Amino acid sequence: MRRFLLLCSFAVAALATRAQDQVLPVGDVKKVSAANGRLDIATTHAFVRLQVYSASVVRVRISGQPLGDDFSYAVTAKASGKITPVETAQDIQFSTDSIRIHIGKKPFSVSFYTPDNRLISEDEPGLTTSWIGSEVTAYKHLQEGERFIGLGEKTGNLDRQGNAYTNWNSDVYGYNAAQDPLYSTIPFYMGLHHGLQYGIFLDNTAQTDFNFGASNNRFSSFGAKSGEMNYYFLYNSSVAGIIESYTWLTGRMPMPPMWALGYQQNRYSYYPDTEVYRIAHTLREKKIPADGITLDIHYMDAYKLFTWNKERFPNPEKMLDSLAGMGFKTTVIVDPGIKTEKGYAAYESGMQENIFLKYADGQPYTGQVWPGWCHFPDFTSEKGRSWWRQQVTKYTRQGVAGIWNDMNEISTWGQKMPNNVLFDFDGHPTTHLKGHNVFGLEMARSSYEGTRNDLQKRPFILTRSGYAGLQRYTAIWTGDNRAEDDHMLAGVRLLNSLGLSGVAFTGMDIGGFTGNPSAALYSRWMQLGAFIPYYRNHTALDSKAAEPWSFGETIQDIARNYINLRYHLLPYIYSTFYEATQTGMPVVRSLAIDYTHDANVYKPAYQNEFQLGQAFLVIPQESVQQYAKVYLPAGQWYNLYNDVKENGNTEKLIGLSAATLPVYVKAGSIVPMQSLIQSTKEQPTDTLTLHIYNGGSNSFTYYEDDGETYKYEQGYFYKRNIHINTANNSIVLDKPSGSNGSKFHQIQLVLHGFNNGSLQVNGKTYTAANITGSVMPGYTYTAQTVVLDNSNNTITINY
Ligand code: NOJ
Repeated sequence: MRRFLLLCSFAVAALATRAQDQVLPVGDVKKVSAANGRLDIATTHAFVRLQVYSASVVRVRISGQPLGDDFSYAVTAKASGKITPVETAQDIQFSTDSIRIHIGKKPFSVSFYTPDNRLISEDEPGLTTSWIGSEVTAYKHLQEGERFIGLGEKTGNLDRQGNAYTNWNSDVYGYNAAQDPLYSTIPFYMGLHHGLQYGIFLDNTAQTDFNFGASNNRFSSFGAKSGEMNYYFLYNSSVAGIIESYTWLTGRMPMPPMWALGYQQNRYSYYPDTEVYRIAHTLREKKIPADGITLDIHYMDAYKLFTWNKERFPNPEKMLDSLAGMGFKTTVIVDPGIKTEKGYAAYESGMQENIFLKYADGQPYTGQVWPGWCHFPDFTSEKGRSWWRQQVTKYTRQGVAGIWNDMNEISTWGQKMPNNVLFDFDGHPTTHLKGHNVFGLEMARSSYEGTRNDLQKRPFILTRSGYAGLQRYTAIWTGDNRAEDDHMLAGVRLLNSLGLSGVAFTGMDIGGFTGNPSAALYSRWMQLGAFIPYYRNHTALDSKAAEPWSFGETIQDIARNYINLRYHLLPYIYSTFYEATQTGMPVVRSLAIDYTHDANVYKPAYQNEFQLGQAFLVIPQESVQQYAKVYLPAGQWYNLYNDVKENGNTEKLIGLSAATLPVYVKAGSIVPMQSLIQSTKEQPTDTLTLHIYNGGSNSFTYYEDDGETYKYEQGYFYKRNIHINTANNSIVLDKPSGSNGSKFHQIQLVLHGFNNGSLQVNGKTYTAANITGSVMPGYTYTAQTVVLDNSNNTITINY
């Protein structure tokens, strides 16, 4: 009884008014209890709960209210793990296999250590966690030399030290290259210092704010305008390990349809159908490989969702079918706003099924966007999602293969949406303040679930807005960028940051959305596009034509050369996507992943460099420059085009050519390539070319499946691990696994940097032939080659 009364008195204290004009600290530890894998603490002004999710993931909740069960749109993993606390008068400690957690009692503060007692992160003494009104913030001591990376779609430098950011999904047409916030919210970042790295994921959908030592030299902090302080602390011995844990927590992407990795042609807007055909035919005539055409808002009747403009597109089924016959999949744009028009089917059924967002008095919310005044489905309710899932089947049944979710911040012409609009939040009713940042995520989810279910094939889903965990359903692109050099480079950093934040399938408008790129900028961007996950050319309503042939023959040839290279590389890129589905490793990788504690990686001159998968080092450069300083990190690097080998750990000046983008291949890389095809509908020849770059031991997982269904989930794939082992001069292709055979019957080995005429393949002697190869017209390399039968179970090559 006495204990109960004591607890009640803390609760009263905890519920004390959080006034706007004072900083209310979390206070001292008053009571501690451990049960059911969690540690509950009552402090002077708060309730705290720590829970172990895995050896590398510990959750911290701090609230003014007693903590009940809660609900997350981001987290799919479940807590698991015991807490055996050791308590003294001053502190409480417990450990997982990877982290030691120390809790100070006066005041409550939390620190994280490695098992060998190196400090990873600690609350800033004196500040710890506190409230100003309903806004809660956790302050962490700024460690010496600490860098910060990630936080999703955020502009700025790779190292975010010294900067602050806000998460509030916003429609930012033609944003400037330093603007914040943009369209999506991923409140997850990593801190790096003293050879250590950790992650923090603040799972709160209200407006959140992050400060990485901006305007102060004491702390980094993260906070939310309302709701709980609810964060996950992640620790691992590598950045890749933290990304793996973060995507374990919030989910990983499913395999994309193969066609979505081909080149996609777009503009705002291609219409009528004859114009769509013209684009499709021109791509084929000019032998510019492509897989996708995207229809922007003008396909609709007066921008009304789920309709077609009958004059522009009299027979959509026929058009979609003809395009499919030519090897083009069609993606259509969808916006969340449903026009409030009597007799319009989507409006009538949405009203009847009562799925629109409403004000507190029960009236549907009405906001203005393309079609005029609109209602908006409440995607945070199962009822709203179910309605949308039905609606999108109208498209899939007509032959649409991709859904592009636009304007889902929610955008109402860039205006602030009223905060008194209510959201179901899956049975936890709330206001716009908490529903806003997940609206886009749940719209993309509904589009994914509806189309997947109806097609029984992989849809391509693209979104502009999202929240942490979006990778489970959708690819994302970075919205309305500008046709300017610094935007191209800022876009690279946005994609790299998204990759660090669990999102592997990303893209930006190649060529720039607003404005008109110069021919040089356009061709640079098209070159770069070949190395980014979603390769889409897009431009605005009022800009000039920006198809690959629009800038003259020379630029067309450059664009075609790089699109060709992309198609040659699809086996490598597809295998890299497979890795993303398994570990969350992004397809484009900031050098901060593999070279985390190399200071050069963060220098402004080098921070845009990235890896495509494990093999390629891509060095984006402005279109106007003749020379560039580049950085080759540790290891040895082959020039992609001529095989000249360079030592890493080197800063160097290189000459730039308009025709090529600087790209290097890491020594020890394994790169599967295929013959040129004009779309993924076409079969390549049955020889897989396996490029092996001498100079290091390495492993690579080669992955194939049918490219379009979900049968891979039942084991219908072909997977083969390939190893280079320099200790015994061998290359081993392991026995394949999975229920499928490979589409390639032969393997042509191309050995770069080897000088052995004679090879033993499964014990038989082969003589490797010298070949002159090329990945880019105008450049050749010399290598050695041998062709092998792919039906062998295990292939061991001794060189
Ligand atoms: C805004 C999108 O960001 C842009 O890509 C699209 O072209 C326009 N909406 C028109 O739908």
